Amino acid sequence: MAQAQIYFNPWDPEFRANPYPHYGALVASPPLMVQMAPMPVALVARYRDAAAALHDPARFSSVPPPPPPGVYQNPFSSPRNVLNADPPDHTRLRRLISRDFTPRRIREMEPRIRRLAAELLGDAARRGEFDLMADFANVLPVKVIADMLGVPREKYATFKDWSDRIIASGNNPPGAPTTPDQVAAIDALVDFFREEIEHRRREPGADLVSALVAAHDDAEALSMPEVLSFLALLLIAGNETTTNLIGNGTLALMRNPDQLELLRKQPELLEGAIEEMLRYDGPVQSTARFPSQAVELGGVEIPGGGIVVVVLAAANRDPAQFPDPDRFDITRAPNDHLAFGEGIHFCMGAPLARMEARIAFGEMLVRFPNLRMKEPARPIEYKGSYFLRGLQALALVAN
Ligand code: HEM
Repeated sequence: MAQAQIYFNPWDPEFRANPYPHYGALVASPPLMVQMAPMPVALVARYRDAAAALHDPARFSSVPPPPPPGVYQNPFSSPRNVLNADPPDHTRLRRLISRDFTPRRIREMEPRIRRLAAELLGDAARRGEFDLMADFANVLPVKVIADMLGVPREKYATFKDWSDRIIASGNNPPGAPTTPDQVAAIDALVDFFREEIEHRRREPGADLVSALVAAHDDAEALSMPEVLSFLALLLIAGNETTTNLIGNGTLALMRNPDQLELLRKQPELLEGAIEEMLRYDGPVQSTARFPSQAVELGGVEIPGGGIVVVVLAAANRDPAQFPDPDRFDITRAPNDHLAFGEGIHFCMGAPLARMEARIAFGEMLVRFPNLRMKEPARPIEYKGSYFLRGLQALALVAN
């Protein structure tokens, strides 16, 4: 879709491969109304507009309108999980699992995650060369979330496969139906979790599936579709995003050797470096809101009944908020990026993702003092969809 200097088309493979050159014009503009069949869309990219929308759930609802009659309704969609709910449903759903994401709970997981990272990187070191995605970034987060859910780690390749196929639905052009392959992946995931739920009813454990089942059985605080939807959200949100933080962040370090060098010299900069990776090339490019009535934002009237696309990754390059925004600067401070969202939907998994990233990058930097790209000239390929941005592969030389 072209309007003046602005081009925003998540379904164009070239745009998807590198949307950043297009964000400059977008962040210079107040919210912009465009037509993406079948709905009017408002593109919100300036940092202050994006933050204002995210902080205003009363006007900017997270509940998408139901699909037209006869169109496939994804069983994970609204209003069944926190991400797609407004208060008071959102408050109830979020409270139910917040105890599993407390800093203490997350800290308890650290030794296990470190062991897992060491094991995967140890294998890579023995081979000398490795694919960051296939051998490490695709594996670590999905095994961690499998542990949290209490489902078998060994099934991680199957989870990844379902998750990849479901995420690919983000590439369906607006109005296009969910493909049979995507429906099959959703069905397989639902069947798997139905069995896990039954199993937990008989033998509850200390895992998240058991906690959600208990919340269902206890006065139906959570309906069964809500349990399933929640599990699907956790499995997908909990693995793909962190995988892509490790991938996109490593690529940023490889392309900015001065910053890699600085980080090697001053490892205490790692936490700030991870925040900069999230700002500079975040795993979640955009999120959506659905005002039911006309709303004003940044001086523009947005009609009700359409979609507001909040372009988080563009807001993270807004020069009004971040000086020299296209520069990858691991010492950037302050760095109040929107990569995890803002307001009531702020990412529940942020402490976990940050810890996994600290472990992943910490271990890689210590183990591989000469880490480098194998074929820097080879074009980098992206997978998934525009909305969840991540590398297909990244061939590295470990030593
Ligand atoms: C680098 C990794 C991650 C990034 C960049 C990320 C990004 C986000 C963003 C942008 C949102 C808000 C979306 C919106 O407001 O519409 C969100 C929400 C959420 N994330 Fe994450 N996420 C990451 C990792 C995780 C992990 C590891 C988990 C779980 C294990 C997780 C679980 C959730 C949940 C449950 C929500 C919904 C919260 C709510 O609606 O109240 N995320 N995430």
